[in-house]
Amino acid sequence: MARLNFEGRWVLITGASAGLGREMAMQLAINYGANLVLIARRGDKLEELKTAILERCSVSVLCIPCDLSDLPAFERQLDAVLDSVPLYAAILNAGMTYFGRHLDMECGILGSMLDLNVKSVVIATNKLVNYFEMHEKEGGLMLVSSMAAQFPTPYQAVYSGTKAFLLNFGLALGQELQNKRFSIMVYLPSGIATDMTSGEKFSKLKGFLMPVTQVAQEGLDAFSRKRKWWIPGVWNRIGARFSWFIPRKLVLKRMARVYQASLLAAEQQKKDI
Ligand SMILES: NC(=O)c1ccc[n+]([C@@H]2O[C@H](COP(=O)([O-])OP(=O)(O)OC[C@H]3O[C@@H](n4cnc5c(N)ncnc54)[C@H](OP(=O)(O)O)[C@@H]3O)[C@@H](O)[C@H]2O)c1
Repeated sequence: MARLNFEGRWVLITGASAGLGREMAMQLAINYGANLVLIARRGDKLEELKTAILERCSVSVLCIPCDLSDLPAFERQLDAVLDSVPLYAAILNAGMTYFGRHLDMECGILGSMLDLNVKSVVIATNKLVNYFEMHEKEGGLMLVSSMAAQFPTPYQAVYSGTKAFLLNFGLALGQELQNKRFSIMVYLPSGIATDMTSGEKFSKLKGFLMPVTQVAQEGLDAFSRKRKWWIPGVWNRIGARFSWFIPRKLVLKRMARVYQASLLAAEQQKKDI
């Protein structure tokens, strides 16, 4: 099967101002020669990234500051992108988490997380799938989920639920596609060392985090190879397979113990200050 070839093609990335999205944008431009549409709320960070990319390679970069949880605004921006550049691929990467006891979470956070992690992805996916199917265009779509989709994650219950939604949504929809030149990949990283995991609450989990460069590199390689889903890190892939043979309640207990310990350590540290 021919690989996706990003060279000279336009690739849209959401959540490109930081973390995994920023790193994938850098690698797509520098290693693959892709033109980029960068989307996130912080326009200044997108412009900084554009400058850093253009200093290193000669591609075209469009920056679109947009809050994806403002769903009508996001739809308008997507329509404008599809009207103005011949899009080849999209990486729906923007996401947020809440780490803490579920009942302590403010309602506003719940709404924002559902809007960003689920609704904005479904809206964008509908538009993009329609675009690629209607025109029988070659290309690809990556949905950035998480291993929290496979391992229900206590103290990140809503996050874990949103990522499980993306896993099933992406895999199921991918099977419906008529255009054989277009593919959907669901990406399932484990913990990554980014702003998302930089807070005190994650301090006891730092040893599990993967470097963002590796996660970006593996994700883009799997995407170009038109994988339906991919987990970065060989031990994560082995662990994910092996976990099916372990009773779920044991996996859940272990997850709860690890995450609770990190949370309690952060709370204790706060009290000590
Ligand atoms: N870090 C991990 O351990 C981990 C593990 C597995 C999966 N993931 C997934 O990987 C993806 C990237 O995570 P990350 O670790 O790179 O997170 P990050 O460092 O916190 O970056 C999140 C990105 O999303 C953007 N974003 C957040 N809210 C937005 C909104 N309302 N509208 C538009 N953009 C928004 C942020 O930009 P602005 O603030 O400028 O808007 C930023 O560019 C997420 O989907 C996450 O769930 C992360």
